[in-house]
Amino acid sequence: MYKENQELLEIINRAIKKSESYIGRGEVATYIPELANVNPENFALSIVSVDGGLYEFGDTDTVFSMQSISKVISLIMALKDNDADTVFKKIGTEASKYKFNSVIPIDDKPSNPFINAGAITTSSLIRGDDIIDKFDRTINMVRKLANSNDIRLIEEVYLSEMQTTDINRAIAYYLKSKGIFTDDAEKILDLYIRNCSIGLNSSQLAHIGAILANGGVSIDQSEEIISKEIVKTVISQMASCGMYEKSGQYLLEVGIPSKSGVSGAILGVVPGKYGICVYSPRLDESGNSVRGTNLLKILSNELDLNIFL
Ligand code: DON
Repeated sequence: MYKENQELLEIINRAIKKSESYIGRGEVATYIPELANVNPENFALSIVSVDGGLYEFGDTDTVFSMQSISKVISLIMALKDNDADTVFKKIGTEASKYKFNSVIPIDDKPSNPFINAGAITTSSLIRGDDIIDKFDRTINMVRKLANSNDIRLIEEVYLSEMQTTDINRAIAYYLKSKGIFTDDAEKILDLYIRNCSIGLNSSQLAHIGAILANGGVSIDQSEEIISKEIVKTVISQMASCGMYEKSGQYLLEVGIPSKSGVSGAILGVVPGKYGICVYSPRLDESGNSVRGTNLLKILSNELDLNIFL
């Protein structure tokens, strides 16, 4: 850990400067119409250390939807509400070489919790009286982990995706036909899309990462929000499956357990040290932020964040 904040700030500023060579590379997601309306050059970096330090750069007040980063929260909820055996009887733990919304890696069960089929399945494992109650429990977990009540559903994103989500609808019905869940497929789909549409900013997301980095315990050490066992499962799945079909390459080059979303955010967890969020909406062909991926690579090198070194 850096005692000299000034030194840390200088290293981070240098890393951001280096990442400017990636500005303009990649495209914003357009298959969810509302995501096409963002400024592609938005940029934010937030780092929260496990001792409560907050480092903010760029548009850290800009709110974006969690998209696939909500898959981390759905997995946490599924593991809180069920024992791990029940969850992993329905979902595998292996990376997929196919796109996040491919139906190929489902076969008997989704290959991991972070492809769409896996997250539709974890959504089906969240308890509650009805979909609204299940969603309220989920967003309240996001608020708790982010230490902020100022986190809401982005209605426009939710409605926009609901109109264009036939691939996820097909996946939900397929999973139901396989007996992975017995609830109404439309309701599970609705919950999954709501979870993806939770809006927050980069500092709130980095705080969620810091709780995971802190073993599930709040930064003031007063409360265990998630058990160590769940944290261990979630971080290891982020490491092996968090960046879709690029997960292996990313782990090799960056070495930080991470999860991306098509809004352009990446959440990184450096166990025992930092939660990191980079937000930059232009994506590569796998749906991972181009500048975000490269900035995390630079930061990992300059700050010695690779978990294997
Ligand atoms: O289901 C979808 O396609 C989106 N709601 C989430 C996909 C996503 O974020 C993939 N991430 N890189």
